[in-house]
Amino acid sequence: MPRKSSRDRIVHCSFCGRPKSDNLRFISGIDAYICEDCVRIANEIIIDEEKTKKEFRTFNLPTPEEIKVYLDDYVVGQDFAKKVLSVAVYNHYKRIVNPKKDIELQKTNVLLIGPTGCGKTLLAKTLAKLLDVPFAIFDVTSLTESGYVGEDVETVLLRLIQNAGGDLEKASYGIVYLDEIDKIAYKPTTGRDVSGEGVQEELLKLLEGHVVNVPMRSNKKMPEQGSFQLDTSNILFIMGGAFVGVEDIIRNRMGSTEMGFKSNVKDMARLSYDDLVSKVEPHDLVKYGFLPEFIGRIPLIVPLHSLGKRELIKILTEPRDAIIKQYQRFFEMENARLTFTDDALDAIAEISIQTKTGARGLRNIIEKALLETMFKLPTMKLKKPVEEVIVDKEVITSGKEPVIIFSDNLKRRRERP
Ligand SMILES: Nc1ncnc2c1ncn2[C@@H]1O[C@H](COP(=O)(O)OP(=O)(O)O)[C@@H](O)[C@H]1O
Ligand SMILES: [Mg+2]
Repeated sequence: MPRKSSRDRIVHCSFCGRPKSDNLRFISGIDAYICEDCVRIANEIIIDEEKTKKEFRTFNLPTPEEIKVYLDDYVVGQDFAKKVLSVAVYNHYKRIVNPKKDIELQKTNVLLIGPTGCGKTLLAKTLAKLLDVPFAIFDVTSLTESGYVGEDVETVLLRLIQNAGGDLEKASYGIVYLDEIDKIAYKPTTGRDVSGEGVQEELLKLLEGHVVNVPMRSNKKMPEQGSFQLDTSNILFIMGGAFVGVEDIIRNRMGSTEMGFKSNVKDMARLSYDDLVSKVEPHDLVKYGFLPEFIGRIPLIVPLHSLGKRELIKILTEPRDAIIKQYQRFFEMENARLTFTDDALDAIAEISIQTKTGARGLRNIIEKALLETMFKLPTMKLKKPVEEVIVDKEVITSGKEPVIIFSDNLKRRRERP
């Protein structure tokens, strides 16, 4: 039985202060009492907190440094973008599991700007592989304003819900990567712009955070089979695009504000895409054809840099699934060793830089150089085992065939009957 307080002889709940009565049961401690209502509330708080913690644990969320180390395994260079993304993703989840609601923690949508083939989409894909959370990559080129032929903006969310295995709650704190976002810039010359400003307005609703009605169909021609209600307030949006031409907007802005002298105009003309894009400001993107409100929803604009020769060579040889490692594996399956000389690697990188395709063109160059050999090798080795295939500079630059070294080990020679 609860002891009576020495102060007034009447027992009070030490939490809510209510006095003991016939219809309010009390539990006593050494020096304190708690009423049954307070026990129930305390219980609910604990269960709620445990649920949140458990959900958080199921994310298995790595720290920003761990995320970056993982990205390093697959993506060469782009250190700044990797750091920004590691922190953005980590904070995104911290924000969701933070039980304190005294300060509204807003999400930080991210925009990656960088030339073709510098690793924007690769960064998103690699993050998606690492994170144990719903992640959808969506190419916005196919989106059109609702009512027009093409995909509706809600399809983006449908993809996320699908990747969350239909779990709406999980989807509501997922991550969406909107690829080729520059393709929905407003183009005033094309008349009614159903894939530009209209799409931006509709995407803006998702960025802002609303409860959105998501029809269960991927195509406007298909009949609707019901719909989902998804709150987008906690979905993190990462966007990426090359924004070809934005460098001229930046150059003009810098030319008119900072420079007034003729000699400096020449300096400005010499600045490269990288130099200029590293100075990008939100207003430049508005000039490029984006609604100010849209850009206003992207607190982080991250410039990526063009890949240099050293980085391209690294991409060829170092990542876990490096292109050269992949071809070496193909040749291994034919019991042959594939070797690239250093000057061949150099030449591959050089061509890639000249054609301005970034790392995107690397595979194509190698595929072309090895096509003839890959065509002949499986039959050739039946007559005479091949030990090694060497790709040197001339194979890349002048289309010469690779050097083939046959094994002179007679025992291993398998001749046709
Ligand atoms: N920084 C990088 N590190 C490693 N590979 C890269 C990098 N950038 C591009 N690549 C290679 O080039 C291909 C195309 O890159 P992608 O990320 O699609 O370029 P974009 O920046 O145009 O989205 C990738 O699949 C990958 O093989
Ligand atoms: Mg891309």
